[in-house]
Amino acid sequence: MESVFSTSIGKGVGEAADWLERGFCVGIPTETVYGLAANALDPSAVVQIFSIKNRPTFDPLIVHVAGMEAVDNYVESFPSPLRRLAEHFWPGPLTLLLPKKTIIPDLVTSGLDRVAIRVPNHALALQLLDRLSFPLAAPSANPFGYISPTRPDHVLQQLGGKVPYILDGGPCVVGLESTIVGMEGNQVTVYRLGGLSVEAIEAVVGLVQIQLNQSSNPAAPGMLKSHYAPRKPLLLGDVPALIAAHPNKRIGVVSYRGVQGIDVVKEFVLSQSGDLVEAAQRLFLALRELDNSEVDLLVAEYLPEVGLGRAINDRLRRAAVQTVK
Ligand code: TXA
Ligand code: MG
Repeated sequence: MESVFSTSIGKGVGEAADWLERGFCVGIPTETVYGLAANALDPSAVVQIFSIKNRPTFDPLIVHVAGMEAVDNYVESFPSPLRRLAEHFWPGPLTLLLPKKTIIPDLVTSGLDRVAIRVPNHALALQLLDRLSFPLAAPSANPFGYISPTRPDHVLQQLGGKVPYILDGGPCVVGLESTIVGMEGNQVTVYRLGGLSVEAIEAVVGLVQIQLNQSSNPAAPGMLKSHYAPRKPLLLGDVPALIAAHPNKRIGVVSYRGVQGIDVVKEFVLSQSGDLVEAAQRLFLALRELDNSEVDLLVAEYLPEVGLGRAINDRLRRAAVQTVK
């Protein structure tokens, strides 16, 4: 079902709650990226998320709750390392995979035994969740496979007409999706790099294992190789060399601190001062802006492979899985 709405955008938590209570989807802010939210306990609301996003139903959704206290309603158990992480980092850019209770519809988890849960660190999102009697299933508010939205106008551009309301919470301060963590046996495991660094997680629970790109597991496309991608081809590596190799292309560059001596149509510098937090905040904006500008080809350099730099490089790699014609 895909209804046609005249989408309004505003700061009305009550208005957003109203639409959600009536079974509609709403664009919501979080600290990571904007979400496309619906009542997680109502399959007929959740199914609209998949149709609006054009998302396959084998890709499960994250369930957002107002706080730790709510989690026990939805999960059978809460392994202690994961509980410690929740105590440290919620509200925040951390999603935990926990054994689900049957109250969570199978559609939300794509039939998997675990449900992905997080408490977002955004005042409006928390006010909204506090007010509702149900949790919110919300994937990033972009068409499946495209760059995630980090500003309300991105949501309007992509989902305008498809949702009745977008809750405007300003630009996202983290800018990368949450880090997804669960247990494999006794081992704390990171399944998706994101807005909470592996170093921060390891400071609380010790060494973790990282298990990305589960190509054996089609139930997790966000972890698949090609995702978060602009429409235009993106090449990664040494920027001057890549520019030299494509003399007839109009090129847009995404650089970390700026590249000296290049002549391109457009360069988007992620953080002049070399701050990975600022770079993460601006990455999706950069890709989106260059994708929408008059260039044929996007070229980007890797960032340092530490802290949020690892998650940024992960997103760049997934965005770059395309060939240049
Ligand atoms: O920061 C975020 O996580 C944002 C905001 C809106 O909260 N949400 C987000 O959702 O990035 P989405 O749907 O774009 O990515 C969620 C990822 C997907 O790759 C999905 O496969 C994985 O989480 N996931 C969700 N539930 C899962 C489950 N039960 N088991 C394994 N993976 C799961
Ligand atoms: Mg997504």
